[in-house]
Amino acid sequence: MADTQVLNAEQAKGEIHEPLTPFGMSVLLGRIAHEWETRRRIFDLPIARFFNVSEGPDISIDFLGRRAATPVGPAAGPHSQMAQNIVLAWLGGSRLMELKTVQILDDLEIGRPCIDMETIGYNIEWSQELKIPQSLEEYVKAWMILDILRRWEEMTPYIGADPGPHIFDLSVGYDLAGISSAPVARFIDSMMDARQEIERLRPEIGGVFAGYRDLDFDPRIADTVTLSTFHGCPPDEIESITKHLITRHGLDVIVKLNPTLLGFERVCGIVHDTLGYESTVLRKADFDNDLQFPRALELIGELEAFAARRGRRFGIKLTNTLVVENTKGFMPDDTMYLSGPPLHVVSTTLLGELHKALPGMLRIDGQDDAPAQVSFSAGITKDNLAAAAGLGLAPITVCSDLLKPGGFGRIKPMLKSLWNSMSAAGAGSLAEWRQHQNEQASGRGAVAAYAARLHDPALNRMYTLAGNTKLPRAVDHDLQMWGCVACNFCVTVCPNDAFFRIPTPDELDADGLQQYLVLAELCNECGNCMVFCPENGDPAVIKPRLYIDEYRFEAETEQAFLIHQDPDGYWVQPNAAGAKWTGDLLLLLNGAEGFPLPPSDEEWTKSKTNSD
Ligand SMILES: Cc1cc2nc3c(=O)[nH]c(=O)nc-3n(C[C@H](O)[C@H](O)[C@H](O)COP(=O)(O)O)c2cc1C
Ligand code: SF4
Ligand code: SF4
Repeated sequence: MADTQVLNAEQAKGEIHEPLTPFGMSVLLGRIAHEWETRRRIFDLPIARFFNVSEGPDISIDFLGRRAATPVGPAAGPHSQMAQNIVLAWLGGSRLMELKTVQILDDLEIGRPCIDMETIGYNIEWSQELKIPQSLEEYVKAWMILDILRRWEEMTPYIGADPGPHIFDLSVGYDLAGISSAPVARFIDSMMDARQEIERLRPEIGGVFAGYRDLDFDPRIADTVTLSTFHGCPPDEIESITKHLITRHGLDVIVKLNPTLLGFERVCGIVHDTLGYESTVLRKADFDNDLQFPRALELIGELEAFAARRGRRFGIKLTNTLVVENTKGFMPDDTMYLSGPPLHVVSTTLLGELHKALPGMLRIDGQDDAPAQVSFSAGITKDNLAAAAGLGLAPITVCSDLLKPGGFGRIKPMLKSLWNSMSAAGAGSLAEWRQHQNEQASGRGAVAAYAARLHDPALNRMYTLAGNTKLPRAVDHDLQMWGCVACNFCVTVCPNDAFFRIPTPDELDADGLQQYLVLAELCNECGNCMVFCPENGDPAVIKPRLYIDEYRFEAETEQAFLIHQDPDGYWVQPNAAGAKWTGDLLLLLNGAEGFPLPPSDEEWTKSKTNSD
């Protein structure tokens, strides 16, 4: 039995406690087929949000010598942890998946709620919430499913005949001991040669996808890595880890830097004075403990040269989140991590400073042959993606914006807005778009010109406190099991696609055209749906919590339902707290759209949580 099967079995039996229990390969494929047949959606994403790369100018990028058909993707975070998240990101138009950070400590207790996107962005998450072998399996499943979907003729009208190349970029953290440990080394090795995992999962390809069972899946899933340094990682450690990843694994490496690198005074000046977030508490000690600017310049130069001597590529990523004191109290912990609009200004200013201090080093600002790639994630939205791509930043990854209503469906409008800007400038490729941006900067350099705009009070409102005070919509009504405003936000803001909706059948005595339900094994209680639900209460707790795994179900004390399936339909086993809703639930699950998992018992139970 493979590691992951043992783990999932232990987890399912309650012997280890994880917040998430991923669905197996056959369940995921069955869900895709069933949702497609019954509602023309995949993992709740409607076809109107599928991206077709062939409908506009060439926006492909070079990433460390590999091609990706678009410059965009999910940043390491909640959108790149589970297989269905990655598939959703790809359908929306992502072609560079920065996978959720994997580290040796894979049994961390994360406080809940852990995400607060009420206005800008805060979180207290860090690395993966799965065991290392489970993370491996999630990434391999996603890789295989994408290979199937890109060939599935049903998709062609919506994603085009050739959706173009995509890249999975590893993310690892946070110290050398952990990264060189046997479990993490095995994880990296397996991502670079996934033959064993692929062969283990292959027999689960069935149903309408049976014809793809013998597909020649590329076993090299990833050979690049973004090193997440997190706060307080000493410079020597960053150096040793990068060298280790290059020499031991032969990886091309991007080092993700922290915004503290800009220095305490500069960051306070931007956050408090330029942008007006006066109540955001920055602590000098957090800056003093992090990598300092002069040492960063040395490191970038040394590591680029080290990589080049070994025939490898090197780059930097701007930036990780900004460490601040937790003054909101919505999430536990004394510290929280800021992302979104203000981070965009801090990180772009840092980009400008590094660029000035490292002439000829960074591949931005028209220096297309410079040695060091610059990847970027900080407050990217549809309003600034085009500007960021015009600077030469690649890839451009997103986290906070995808946690807002619309979720993965926000990627397509971002890419369309990039296309529109390019078309208006007559640019047929990103190279031409970069050239256009440089010409517009009239000798000043596109990066400096853009950074100056972000500091101009007449132009930077969308990054300021004043531009980010609007709270999510609220109605004075207590959320109930059935009936609600039916805004669909819980479905779209959930990075794990744990929420789904079913049209209300005539026989059900409930308000609203749609009813909302939770696939409880996919919910890690991050709190994001609670923040955006207009009604009072937590949808992830109040709406019906459905399980397909009996051990997870048995551990539940609040209302919960175990869903069984047989060829005649679904049946429901409630716990004591859920008993009174069983009849209503049966009506919903057996309706025309019904439960999104397929009613074909055999394949499904065989690997419902990969535990057998
Ligand atoms: C909820 C959440 C979880 C995150 N998890 C990780 C992680 O595991 N590893 C990592 O390197 N960065 C992580 N990040 C940081 C993001 O990758 C990204 O660098 C940062 O949020 C800035 O981008 P944004 O402004 O688009 O959110 C996380 C961010 C958020 C909001
Ligand atoms: S259902 Fe809500 S709490 Fe659960 S993972 Fe999704 S957004 Fe987070
Ligand atoms: S539960 Fe809340 S967020 Fe979900 S659809 Fe109903 S009102 Fe909207």
